[in-house]
Amino acid sequence: MAQKIAFITGGNRGLGFQTALDLKDPGVKVVIGSRDLAQGEKAVEKLRAAGVDADVLQFDITKTSDYQAAYDYFDSRYGRLDILVNNAGIAAGTFPGTGPEHSASEVPSGVLHKVFETNFFAVVALTDTLLPLIKKSAAGRIVNLSSILGSLKLHADPNSPIYHAKSFAYDASKTALNAFTIHLAYELRDTKIKVNSAHPGWVKTDMGGEQATMELSEGGKTSAALATLADDGPSGGYFHQGKPLPW
Ligand SMILES: NC(=O)c1ccc[n+]([C@@H]2O[C@H](COP(=O)([O-])OP(=O)(O)OC[C@H]3O[C@@H](n4cnc5c(N)ncnc54)[C@H](OP(=O)(O)O)[C@@H]3O)[C@@H](O)[C@H]2O)c1
Repeated sequence: MAQKIAFITGGNRGLGFQTALDLKDPGVKVVIGSRDLAQGEKAVEKLRAAGVDADVLQFDITKTSDYQAAYDYFDSRYGRLDILVNNAGIAAGTFPGTGPEHSASEVPSGVLHKVFETNFFAVVALTDTLLPLIKKSAAGRIVNLSSILGSLKLHADPNSPIYHAKSFAYDASKTALNAFTIHLAYELRDTKIKVNSAHPGWVKTDMGGEQATMELSEGGKTSAALATLADDGPSGGYFHQGKPLPW
């Protein structure tokens, strides 16, 4: 059987790197996107040493010219893309945000735009550019790295564990990303492509911080599982470790 080809944005460190480790399988070629090529090459060395069939593509999700470059990379080498993990993201501050820069009334417009650019607009543009290649896959899988902090239902509930974790720019960008998941999954409902949102957990990464409750070694599981869903798996869902989250 042909190898599955996977692309993970922001794969040089954190959850993207861990997801690449978790996709280790002779049947999967993992290409990590890294905006710094040297860091990406170091990550690939570690992945290969761990037994992952890995390569790196220099890729900055906020550079629109990189979308077509990614398309050309996968088209020229493989003629298709099987798995896209939209992992690259920013929090624009401490996570979860505590300072006034994170409140809805005081968020600087520049921060709001920057976070939406990386976490939402760029993800939509990249996915739409790569979609013709994913349509050529026998079992395309798109995983959008959301967060439980994108859940409107939980944010509105005073009894929910995230009620006080209000970081407006970040949270709203993940809510918007969830909308993309639902809309794209609807559009692709008669294809073999599955589109889902992932909440990895609160994970000890540079973004998650030291106080996070989950170790990095556990943090890639949700993304890896959604990237390798069986043909009868769900699409248009929002999951943490196999369990659905409220939108
Ligand atoms: N950690 C958590 O607890 C947690 C919880 C829920 C959701 N998430 C989501 O999971 C994803 C990964 O988070 P993480 O904790 O692994 O974060 P991280 O440790 O800060 O790593 C972020 C990754 O994204 C890359 N990135 C940032 N901006 C980029 C850009 N413009 N172009 C390309 N790559 C870019 C970074 O690359 P550089 O090294 O070049 O900066 C890095 O590889 C994010 O979408 C985040 O929102 C994380």
